[in-house]
Amino acid sequence: MDPKRIAFGSLLLSLLIVLGTCDFDRHSHSSSHMMHHMDSATNVFFVADDLKLGKTMPIYFPDGNPNPLSSPYLLPKYEADAIPFSLKQLPNILNHFSFPQDSHKAQVMENTLGACEAKPIEGETKICATSYETLIDFARKILGLETNIKVLSTHRPMRSNSAVLQNYTITEAPERISTPKMVACHTMRYPYIVFYCHSQEGDNRLHKTSLLGENGDRVEAIAVCHMDTSHWNRDHVSFRVLGIEPGTAPICHFFPAENFVLVPSTSSI
Ligand SMILES: *[C@@H]1O[C@H](CO)[C@@H](O)[C@H](O)[C@H]1NC(C)=O
Repeated sequence: MDPKRIAFGSLLLSLLIVLGTCDFDRHSHSSSHMMHHMDSATNVFFVADDLKLGKTMPIYFPDGNPNPLSSPYLLPKYEADAIPFSLKQLPNILNHFSFPQDSHKAQVMENTLGACEAKPIEGETKICATSYETLIDFARKILGLETNIKVLSTHRPMRSNSAVLQNYTITEAPERISTPKMVACHTMRYPYIVFYCHSQEGDNRLHKTSLLGENGDRVEAIAVCHMDTSHWNRDHVSFRVLGIEPGTAPICHFFPAENFVLVPSTSSI
């Protein structure tokens, strides 16, 4: 299979995982609830020509409130390394946290471990890091062993009450962040902080944008543009949403709130 084609599948998988991060502890998992999230997920795509000052477009930024299961503890490495982290060990992990085998939490943890153990696709490198040190080690392998690392994140300087699909206007000229490589991360639904991070080959360009929603919501969003879509699966949802054909225009998407991207600290705007 074509690497780019698979790579994009992984991007979507990531988006869906991200959308799932909002409700570890919520018990009403109706399928209509999930469908709503999946439909909204398509409202993060746009064409590169739209990345300009004054442009208005409908976007859905999930709340990104991470891990309400418990306080989102970041464990010290020695502690994280002492807790098993694999599907095979799930019964032991549940014992460790005193969660019943048939609970919603158990199901969510199984999903997280499953996503973490899924094989990386061609052209992709990924990890589920259970500690800060592990995250940084991974990032250095991608960005350069001697590299100092900078974190860029999509965040809301002024948090509005709830995430809604609404029109956002780009209020400042978007700035290209010049970097040869990047590692994109988000936290998974789990009883302690687990970073799902991955890096994809290809010409992917990062931009920093300032957005203002109709309800006053402000988002400082990182966007990535995939410059060559000619080998993407033509059935891909982004083509349907944007009404374009593969290879005709670079396709961009915003990173959901609370996602972050690691780049070398020398990367300039
Ligand atoms: C965004 O604005 C356009 C043009 O005014 C309008 O047609 C559309 O319904 C709006 N979308 C949302 C989600 O509010």
